[in-house]
Amino acid sequence: MEKESITLHVAWHIDALLHPFPVTIVTTVDPQGNINAAPYSLLIPFSSSPKNPQMLLIVMKAWHTAKNIEANGEFVINYPKADQLKDITATARYYPAGVNELDYTRYTTMPARTVRPPRIVECFQHIECRVCEIIRPSSMQVNFIADVLDISVNKGSYDVPRTKRAHNVSVPVYFGPDFGLNEQYHLYGQVNEIHSEPAELNRVNTQGPCVDKRHS
Ligand SMILES: Cc1cc2nc3c(=O)[nH]c(=O)nc-3n(C[C@H](O)[C@H](O)[C@H](O)COP(=O)(O)O)c2cc1C
Repeated sequence: MEKESITLHVAWHIDALLHPFPVTIVTTVDPQGNINAAPYSLLIPFSSSPKNPQMLLIVMKAWHTAKNIEANGEFVINYPKADQLKDITATARYYPAGVNELDYTRYTTMPARTVRPPRIVECFQHIECRVCEIIRPSSMQVNFIADVLDISVNKGSYDVPRTKRAHNVSVPVYFGPDFGLNEQYHLYGQVNEIHSEPAELNRVNTQGPCVDKRHS
């Protein structure tokens, strides 16, 4: 197969690449305590050690989310299901500072356990975070490395084998925006086919084999 190189433009990661990103909704609060919510895909577990679990979240400096996190260091990552695409996208709309995007959706909130931003009830998984380091790779971008203070899931959902858990959550993936001449869209996919392949467990891992001990 012949290959060709692609020219990089602004936001190359969602322009040049067809990279399936996860979809989350990040909640923050401003200094007055107003809730802010917006979808975020550029995030990844940064430290996988249970001794210092950390997340990396990548945000454009201009967004309210970045300003709120810079102001108080706290955020919650909420994981929505694929049947919530309209509400997820509604939280991406621009509103003036202080407006709670969740008021324009069917989402409801409940307090987080450790931080001021709330959890979104209709999401199936939540990570409560406090920033420990900020990296600025460009004048437009701010990257937050944050300690994971708490992870919570829908009660009972963690008590079934991992394969069934994966089947039970049909999650969206994000392929970035499609900027047409007249209309703009966000492109999503949906993960609802789960396949199991035999795996060779890595027993040299210093933290022990990567098996789900609760169900083995
Ligand atoms: C599915 C999806 C994922 C997104 N992921 C990111 C992201 O990882 N980083 C970012 O800076 N903007 C991302 N955006 C754009 C922001 O969510 C959007 O600009 C939003 O208006 C910012 O809101 P805020 O100013 O209330 O924080 C994403 C948008 C969508 C629809």
